[in-house]
Amino acid sequence: MKVMIYKTAEEIAEAVGRIIIKRVADEPTSAIGFATGASPVPTYEYIVNEFNKGNISFKDMKTFNLDEYCDLPVEDINSYHYFMNENLFGKIDVNPENINFLDGNAEDYDKESQRYAEAIKNAGGIKVQILGIGTNGHIGFNEPADEFTDEAFKVKLTQSTRDSNAKYFGGEEKMPKYAMTMGIGSIMRAKEIVLIATGEAKAKAIAAAVNGEVTPQCPASVLQNHPNATLFIDEAAASLLK
Ligand code: F6R
Repeated sequence: MKVMIYKTAEEIAEAVGRIIIKRVADEPTSAIGFATGASPVPTYEYIVNEFNKGNISFKDMKTFNLDEYCDLPVEDINSYHYFMNENLFGKIDVNPENINFLDGNAEDYDKESQRYAEAIKNAGGIKVQILGIGTNGHIGFNEPADEFTDEAFKVKLTQSTRDSNAKYFGGEEKMPKYAMTMGIGSIMRAKEIVLIATGEAKAKAIAAAVNGEVTPQCPASVLQNHPNATLFIDEAAASLLK
């Protein structure tokens, strides 16, 4: 696991944005794993800017998002479908047929998990997976747990995650209690992983992920076992690193 420390979120956005753009330029049909939340937004802005300058086409790129809320229509402004359309997919030339999401409203979550695993396999596997990290060390919505998970599954969101994300819903009571997320195995099978974290609120989780033992109690710590995982973090997020 490599750790790269930057002064600003813009520098992180450029560094991560360049990795994605180079991957797609080298192999236009690459499957890229996308995250939502605040952390990757500057990176998506960087990518959109490069696209607008005519520096790259994403027409053949395949996309797989990490997670989606359950019991929330995809048209809802808080759905991750909506988020990705607003922040990236609606602003570049990706073919809508190449965009993949987990169905948070699936009738059968096991079948949905198998479907997603097959789709990732058929796309040639995820070449670069973008991640954020929760203040509790979660990646995707893999919350602290007793075991590492493998393929996608339905998860009950923890209080910590609900506290972090309730602001988007205008109150915790309006926030979904469950989500469908890629499992740790599906994330770890990506060829390359880039994790973005900024701000002091992430410092404890980053220190546990980097300096702590590899444990499902801090899901991001599993990245220590990945052959090509890099953390792109600012000085505040790095402040508790040994
Ligand atoms: C989002 C996701 C989450 C977030 C994490 C950090 O798709 O899977 O793991 O990356 O909760 O969120 P932000 O970036 O909003 O602090």
